[in-house]
Amino acid sequence: MRRRLIDAGRLGSALTTGLRGGSGQDRARRRRALLRFGALAAVLVLVLSAVAPVLAQVQDTNPYTTTDPKSPEGGMIQGLYRLIFWMSVVVFVFVQFLIVYTAMRFKRRRSQNTRPNQVHGHRTLEITWTVIPAIVLLIIAVPTISTIYSTYAASDDTKGAIVVEVYAKQWWWEFHYPGMGPVDAQGNATDLITANEVRVPEDQKVVFKLYSNNVIHSLWVPEMTGHMDVIPGHERRLAFTPQESGTYYGECAEFCGVAHAWMRFIVKVQPRADFDTWTAAMNQPPGPATAGFVPNGDVAQTPPSFGQCLLCHNITGTKAMAAQAGIAADPTSNNAGPNLTLLACRDTLAAGLLENTPENLALWLLNPGLVKEGNYMHALDTGIKNQGEDGALTPETVTALVAYLESLKPDAGCPENGTANGNMNTDALADNAAAVSTPVPATPVATPVGGTPLATGGSATSVALEGGDLFFNPTTLTVAQGGTIALTNSGQLPHNFVIEGYSDAAPVDMPNGQTVDWTIPADLAPGTYTFYCAVPGHRALMNGSITITPPQ
Ligand code: CUA
Repeated sequence: MRRRLIDAGRLGSALTTGLRGGSGQDRARRRRALLRFGALAAVLVLVLSAVAPVLAQVQDTNPYTTTDPKSPEGGMIQGLYRLIFWMSVVVFVFVQFLIVYTAMRFKRRRSQNTRPNQVHGHRTLEITWTVIPAIVLLIIAVPTISTIYSTYAASDDTKGAIVVEVYAKQWWWEFHYPGMGPVDAQGNATDLITANEVRVPEDQKVVFKLYSNNVIHSLWVPEMTGHMDVIPGHERRLAFTPQESGTYYGECAEFCGVAHAWMRFIVKVQPRADFDTWTAAMNQPPGPATAGFVPNGDVAQTPPSFGQCLLCHNITGTKAMAAQAGIAADPTSNNAGPNLTLLACRDTLAAGLLENTPENLALWLLNPGLVKEGNYMHALDTGIKNQGEDGALTPETVTALVAYLESLKPDAGCPENGTANGNMNTDALADNAAAVSTPVPATPVATPVGGTPLATGGSATSVALEGGDLFFNPTTLTVAQGGTIALTNSGQLPHNFVIEGYSDAAPVDMPNGQTVDWTIPADLAPGTYTFYCAVPGHRALMNGSITITPPQ
């Protein structure tokens, strides 16, 4: 059987002498081959031009697109992408041309019955196809290296930039705006802290300082700039200047554990005035309209079960400020969960997993381990369990918590939330909710069930005092000498009961799940005292006032 062979020697000479030369018959044959090739190329161009608008549409609705940057830094990277893309197109077309041309030009003719001349190698060709790729790589390398250096230089220079410290957690993001938080008791400006949703002003350079105290993560906002690894023990930086108001998705781009895929966040780019309104609102205590809030922002009035939440979640402007933040926080998220200030004004829950609706918040609180597998709120011993597990919240409690959390916003309403920019992929969020959906309780009621005093006023001989996780209920007691206080620990942590100036050194233990009766001793003189829990760290949140009256 005869085989069709390409004569490498003839290919080489044809390529080096071009399409000129040869007999008239040869030239006619070559012309026919070129015509056929031209037709093929035309079809290819037609197909590409038909696909292009479709691709453009996909790009418009894809929140993770890298080909439509909204910052000059993203633009530089896009410039590299374009350069490499078009060079690839040229190489592709050139190589395809050579393949098709060679196949047509050097196929066996009917008249040829002899075996073609067998050759090995062709020096000119081999030098050519070594030198061309080297030049191609050089053309790519020069702008790539200069882009790398200029983006690094941009992140080193914080002049005129808004600096945001970003702490990558498992599996969510904490954002600190240094010095932009409320002024503390010593007159020093604190950090404004938020989670999973970072706001920045339009047309101002942003420098993210990236930190981790757990594992390696990688911060990526595809529409802004490239990604940057977040490495424990190092400060990494990323700079970009957002040029268009809108909502942009960010995510973790480095596998960092069970819930890595659900480590998302939102970047809200807003006009300066809207950004300033937001920072002001973040520093205000929640207004009186906030369910269960008394004017001094006393979280003791929140649903009792919220006491458990206060271990890990802070709310600026309230007494819920016990949780740890930043690099010093517990790496395993023990006592260190996302800051919940203005939670009601956020777009998403659970680090970009669910749209922030009362139904989804209830879903999240009822089954945190099912909604976001691996998350510490469910994994910790003191965490919230799924329905059916020990430590699950009851639907009634969840209803109260949802009402409370969804009321965490200014009385005048949320600060301008910004345009969705066509990028908030609510369909995807709805799909997430559907995927993890379990029976959800009825629409939350407006008032929390907790906070109802168990005993009020009078000169009672027997009163009840509930001590839960980081709250006492009620916080005002009146009891006569010789009367008893039934101390119940309804929480999961150990607590105790102390009367300031009387029993500081001898707390009455309140074992979990038990009720202990404590009789008011005769040597505790009538008067009003402060009572508190003496377990380290609890006093700030667990305290109240007790009035002792003469014996009845
Ligand atoms: Cu953090 Cu992946």
